[in-house]
Amino acid sequence: MATTLRLGSDSASLDRAAELLRAGQLVAMPTETVYGLAGDAGSDAAVEAIYAAKGRPSHNPLIAHVGSMQMAESLADFPPEALALAAAFWPGPLTLVLPRRAGAAVAQRVTAGLPTLALRMPAHPVARALINSFGGPLAAPSANPSGRISPTEPGHVLAGLDGRIGAVVDGGACSVGLESTILAVAPDGRVRLLRPGSIGAEEILSATGLILSENDQAGIEAPGQMLSHYAPRGAVRLDVTTPAPDETLLGFGPVETPYNLSPAGELAEAAARLFALLHQMDQDGVERIAVSPIPETGIGRAINDRLRRAAAPRD
Ligand code: TXA
Ligand code: MG
Repeated sequence: MATTLRLGSDSASLDRAAELLRAGQLVAMPTETVYGLAGDAGSDAAVEAIYAAKGRPSHNPLIAHVGSMQMAESLADFPPEALALAAAFWPGPLTLVLPRRAGAAVAQRVTAGLPTLALRMPAHPVARALINSFGGPLAAPSANPSGRISPTEPGHVLAGLDGRIGAVVDGGACSVGLESTILAVAPDGRVRLLRPGSIGAEEILSATGLILSENDQAGIEAPGQMLSHYAPRGAVRLDVTTPAPDETLLGFGPVETPYNLSPAGELAEAAARLFALLHQMDQDGVERIAVSPIPETGIGRAINDRLRRAAAPRD
């Protein structure tokens, strides 16, 4: 097994990380949502290596991470609605799925053959510094083996991918803790929600005046929307107020358990801690997880989305 370098986030470390990326290697980098497994989006070989390291199905496209609007607009077409969304929420935890530009400098495999390209400009200073030092778009899915829990700390990345990637850049724990909100913007300006995240419909409406359309497309358009995903090793049961004797409670609010998402019942705190607690329960060998009810409001919707996928029957 090759050695995965542990890098800090000082400028010498980021130079080293950018050098590895230029050599076609993979580097796990912190973002405000989750750690991403970054590779040169312009290189077929690097993108291929991302799919291989994660064991990711090749029909599941990747997000290209950009450092500027200029970089973004060289890769995809921005209808006015997309420009408004980018102005309101970038840099930040929002991904836009847009018509890919002819001749865009990203490998075909990034989009898995789709005519659209997913773009995100992350806010995390380390991710921004790394993209800028690299000087081009970085393809980066969450840095976990496909189907498993997303990583919000460097230790989570190493637990899944140690020896399979070039390096991990330590930027501490991710502040949001759930993957970005994904919106598809059609050439006619229609905006559809493909994956709920910390930026919700109300915030989008108040910041841009845009109303989200129903997601009426058939099939799995964002395969992160595949039903079984984010799976811990233990079985998961949702909306539990009284756990069975053989269950361990993943709590929310004032309940007695060693695993509490937010004793104060705060949704943002629960989102930031969700994946870390699921990783911890995995590590502790918890076999039956019962989850407290989580309110279906604001970021609670994104938390419940991830929990439903964690609880879904597995193949
Ligand atoms: O917060 C995030 O978005 C993190 C950080 C690292 O940026 N990234 C992330 O990537 O969650 P990933 O690969 O785990 O999830 C990306 C999702 C997948 O469900 C994929 O199917 C969808 O985005 N996606 C990518 N390109 C797409 C496209 N052209 N059309 C529809 N869905 C797309
Ligand atoms: Mg993922």
